[in-house]
Amino acid sequence: MQTSSVTKQDNFAEDVRKGLSSAPKHLSSKYFYDDEGSRLFQKIMDLPEYYLTRAEYEIFSTQTKEIFSAFCDDFAEFDLIELGAGDGTKTAVLIDYFLRRKIDFTYSPIDISAEAVDFLTEKFKTKFPGLKIDAKTGDYFRILETLKSESQRPKILLFLGSNIGNFSREKALGFFAQLRAVMNESDLLFVGFDLQKDPRVILAAYDDAQGVTAAFNLNLLKRINRELGANFDLESFSHYATYRPTECAARSFLISRENQTVRIEALNCSFEFKQWEPIFMEISQKYNREMIEDLARASGFRVKRNFFDSRHYFVDSLWEKSGKK
Ligand code: AVI
Repeated sequence: MQTSSVTKQDNFAEDVRKGLSSAPKHLSSKYFYDDEGSRLFQKIMDLPEYYLTRAEYEIFSTQTKEIFSAFCDDFAEFDLIELGAGDGTKTAVLIDYFLRRKIDFTYSPIDISAEAVDFLTEKFKTKFPGLKIDAKTGDYFRILETLKSESQRPKILLFLGSNIGNFSREKALGFFAQLRAVMNESDLLFVGFDLQKDPRVILAAYDDAQGVTAAFNLNLLKRINRELGANFDLESFSHYATYRPTECAARSFLISRENQTVRIEALNCSFEFKQWEPIFMEISQKYNREMIEDLARASGFRVKRNFFDSRHYFVDSLWEKSGKK
């Protein structure tokens, strides 16, 4: 997926300047996903501590029939649109089921990264020779706007993997409101949310024993070095993860282990780091039912049905537009 939230208007250099000039310093996690970052995220999804992907996969593979019925109780044909291409493992379960049932549908993965979309398209063409696939590269909302008038078939929008958790509440509400504006009345939205659970389980997912999450965070400094001509010394920053149960939020930081100055050529300036000063890197919001219902209501949706895994670690929540906004 995961390049998904980076749009053409994003300005990497300016965002880095703003983030490192702020107090406290921060960098945006939407920039994690260069080629190496995407590879590291793939590794994270296989980690024993990172339960999210397996929990969501369990939902898709054990409740396929129920998900299908909830998708199309009122209609027999639809377009399946995935926001953020991902590696398609979970979506493949649905596609396989729909094809077996001879459902008339088109699958459209949308991502800002042409590479991610091409990779998934090739993979699915081989795996599902009968699949009608119409991949799109670019900004979600612009593409959905054109699809709104182009296709009269109901659309099911997938936004999986707790990607919404990397947005602040304000950004999440803005994102859902924008989606709502490009959805027709019979369209549905299927969103993955990671749920509140034992804080120790959550914290371990963001602080794995093999240090893959640490490498994933540090990779953004590597990217700044390479793309913006900076001289971050990766050895002098360390990954630190927290989970605050009062806010249901995991956060990750890179901590400067010493007093240091980092030069960024593309910005023509240097940044001072005090010893033990943090850079805030990422929020991974966790949710409970009330929070999900509140998000849906506040952005003009109604929860049609929730699909939980057996441990209630994760939920895929199916939303329909409500009359009010
Ligand atoms: C992509 N996103 C849902 C991941 C998460 O769990 O917040 C990103 C991630 N960060 C560290 N590990 C995984």
